[in-house]
Amino acid sequence: MMQPQDPLRRKFDIQPLTQADMTVRLDGRTVNAAQGETVLTVIQSLGQRQVARNDHGRISGAYCGMGVCQCCLVKIDGRHKRRACQTLVRPGMQIETRANRMTDTEAP
Ligand code: FES
Repeated sequence: MMQPQDPLRRKFDIQPLTQADMTVRLDGRTVNAAQGETVLTVIQSLGQRQVARNDHGRISGAYCGMGVCQCCLVKIDGRHKRRACQTLVRPGMQIETRANRMTDTEAP
């Protein structure tokens, strides 16, 4: 019988997350999250700096954190190129980092 995995540990929060309101799935793993935080803060709480994959297959990290640079585009609930820094988490959200339809097999 398969055991449920413990949530990933958020080791890089500036202020420790005292109460998780929900869990989200990040690259197939469960992570605790709080209402009102962005997808990018969840990713950064894990110390993950490689966030997006551009149309040329290059990996990038988030740069501006305010919706301008487009360096944090991730796949959210099956939709590509969503800005992690501008998207609030929702319970059960499915997030994939380093994904890009231009390099995926689902590309036309
Ligand atoms: S980090 Fe620049 S748009 Fe998200």
